[in-house]
Parts: sequence; C-alpha cells; structure tokens
Amino acid sequence: MTTFTRDTEVFRDEDLLREDYQPDSITAREEELETYKTALQPIVNGAQPRNVFLYGKTGVGKTLVSQYLLDRLERDTAAYDDVDLSVVWLNCTNLASSYQVAVSLVNTFREPAAHISTTGYPQQRVFDLLYEELEAIGGTVLLVLDEIDHIGTDDEILYELPRARANGYLEETKPGVIGISNDFGFRDELSPKVKDTLCEEEIHFPPYEAPELEAILDRRVDDAFYDDAVGDGVIALCAAIAAQDTGSARQALTLLYKAGELVRTGDATTVTEEHVHEAFTVIERDQIEHGMRELTRHGHLALVAALGLALQDETPVRIREIYPLYRTIASESKTDPLVRRRFHDHLADLAMLGILDRRTRNEGRAGGQYYEYEFNVDLGTVRDVVADLEGITVPRNVARQL
Ligand SMILES: Nc1ncnc2c1ncn2[C@@H]1O[C@H](COP(=O)(O)OP(=O)(O)OP(=O)(O)O)[C@@H](O)[C@H]1O
Ligand SMILES: [Mg+2]
Repeated sequence: MTTFTRDTEVFRDEDLLREDYQPDSITAREEELETYKTALQPIVNGAQPRNVFLYGKTGVGKTLVSQYLLDRLERDTAAYDDVDLSVVWLNCTNLASSYQVAVSLVNTFREPAAHISTTGYPQQRVFDLLYEELEAIGGTVLLVLDEIDHIGTDDEILYELPRARANGYLEETKPGVIGISNDFGFRDELSPKVKDTLCEEEIHFPPYEAPELEAILDRRVDDAFYDDAVGDGVIALCAAIAAQDTGSARQALTLLYKAGELVRTGDATTVTEEHVHEAFTVIERDQIEHGMRELTRHGHLALVAALGLALQDETPVRIREIYPLYRTIASESKTDPLVRRRFHDHLADLAMLGILDRRTRNEGRAGGQYYEYEFNVDLGTVRDVVADLEGITVPRNVARQL
C-alpha cells in the first residue's frame, strides 16, 4: 500500500502561501511604492542615492516591497551604461551591534576563505576594511539592512556608512543605505545624528485593513487551491481576523494555509469558516508553546513551579503559595532564587504571554487586593515543554507525569 499520494483536493500549489513566495505584482501598496520609487530615482539619474528608512509592524510588506522594487531597479538601470548599481542585502537578525553588521558586510563581499572573524578587530579597523571593499566595487552600492533594529542603540554604522563619501573614505563608490525595521522604539531611539542621515526618506507601512488583505489573498487563492476547495466567506474571514488582530498579510496568509492543512488532514474537502476559526486557535496555541520554550531560566523555573501546583489541583494560586516552591526548585537546580518581587515580574510575564491567566481578587473585609494565577493553556502542552528543559530539577510529582 502507498503511504504518500499526491494531494488532488485541497492545494494546487501550496508554495504560494509560504512566507518566501514572491508574487510578481504587489497588491494594496500603491502609495508606498510611489514614495519608495521617488526616493530611489536619484540612482537612475546617476546621482548619489538617498538613504531610506522603512518602518511598520510585522507582516505589512516591507521586505516584499523592497525586494520587488530593488529587483526592478537593478533590471531597469542595466539599460544605462553610466549607472553601475550593486544591491547588497543583509538580514541583521543575529547581529547585535554596528561592529557585527560591519563584519558581516565585509564578509558578504569576500570569498569564504578571506572571511574575517566577528571578534578581535578594533571597530575602526573593520569599518576601514568595509570601505576598502566598497571602494573596490565602484558605482552605486545600495546596502539594504533588513531587521536593523537588532543592533539596538549601537547604531554608529548607520551614521558612518551614509557619510563615508563626505568623510573622504570613498571616492569611486556612492553608498546608499536602506534600513528596514518593525520596531517603532528603535526608530524613536536612533541617535539624532543617525536620524538626520539615515532617515532622509522615511516610509511608513501602515497595517493592512480587511479589504486590502482580502485583495492580497484573492490574488493567490486560485493558483494555491483547487477549484471549489475554498468555501464562501473563507477569504473574507481570514482577512477580517488578521485585520482586527495585527493588520499583517503574513497572519492572513498563515491562517488560510493552516485552514487548508486542517482540511487536508481531516475528512472534509472544502475549507470552511469553521476551519479558519480552528486554524486561529491552533496557531495561537503554537505561538504560546513557542513562547514557553523561549522563556529565560527564571521564567522556566516559574513555569515548573506553576505546573507542580496545577498537577496537584492547587491552581488558581497566589504568589505566596507558588514562591516557596519556586525557591526550592531553583535551589535544587543550582540557581540563585530571585527575591519575591522580581519573581513576581516573571509571573506577570507568563500572564502577558497568555501562558497563565491572572485574576485580581479582593481580600474580604481587610480590603487588600491580590492576584491569582492558573494555566490558560492545556497542561499537556506545558508538560511537553517542561520535559524538554535542561538543567532544571523538577519536583517529584511533576517528574512522574512527564
Ligand atoms: N502587498 C502585498 N501583496 C502581496 N503579498 C504581500 C503583501 N504584503 C505582504 N505580503 C506577504 O506577506 C508576507 C509578509 O510580508 P513581508 O515579509 O514583506 O513583511 P515585513 O513587513 O517585512 O514583516 P517583518 O517586519 O516581520 O519582516 C510575505 O509572505 C509577503 O509575500
Ligand atoms: Mg521583513
């Protein structure tokens, strides 16, 4: 008997619903495209590029629109002999400083054998190496720094690069920087001199509204799904849910994809509104589980303590009940316990992440108030996460149930 057979009922081409799929046209971003295009126009004219800063929440098309427009810019400037454009992309997700960004840039220009290491050079030396590489390329070099907020307040490079020519470091090369960020705090905290240079052109990508998300999904649905595989109202519902929650096209696409997957694994052949609601729940649960895994050590210790009490049916609990257990688990796990107030911050975090539910209670006639906590997620999921934790000595009653 065959184990795998090809889908013939739901997805015609599910790749269209994936994060990395590049649609060949952009829906619902006319204004931003127009502003962006104007900001890039000097390059086409052979002039010095302007620096551009793109910001907006996650999933609103910043990366997609940049890729789309810069591809076209490269294609269309190829027609002009006096424009020699190179576009360099760098995703800064794992780069925590200007220094690390500079090292990564140097390495993108070099053969692997000539890569420099991420430690050991003075910062100015790395900048000099970067200027050497840039100068060797010549023409216009656009440096696209996506997720640039990961460098935090160490933003020197965002000042240095755009000014490299003015400061005499570059002659042959005209550098331009495009910074992209979904962290509004980062933009506000840029040092004033960086703001002046980098944010020459600022383009804000607002969250999508429901009709825009619907248009984005509509474009893909016919090729992604077989005819009649998507029921009435499904696209509108995905769009409405995502618009109300985040305004993210990524969320809308993920919902539709997940709803399709639920159909594929179940008995139905058509995606219905029910599937969309179910998909929403599944995705949320997965995110909470991911959040649990990513907690800090004290967050994990708090989680284990709460699980210990929940398995004894003692939840909802107050901090004075959970704190002693946390202290014991911490000590047995060779970690210095936090003082109660700091521990409380971790409980509050668990509540904020949707792992615990926190309720305010009144202390009867005495008039004081206190919080009560209990799990907001299925204990099985918590157990799975706790079972994978390393270096934490869990209480016996918990260990027995893992
Ligand atoms: N206007 C649009 N038309 C078609 N697809 C879109 C549009 N905007 C976003 N998408 C799709 O939504 C997903 C998220 O978009 P993108 O990666 O550009 O978001 P982003 O703003 O860069 O988010 P982040 O800040 O998380 O990096 C991608 O799969 C992209 O193809
Ligand atoms: Mg992006």
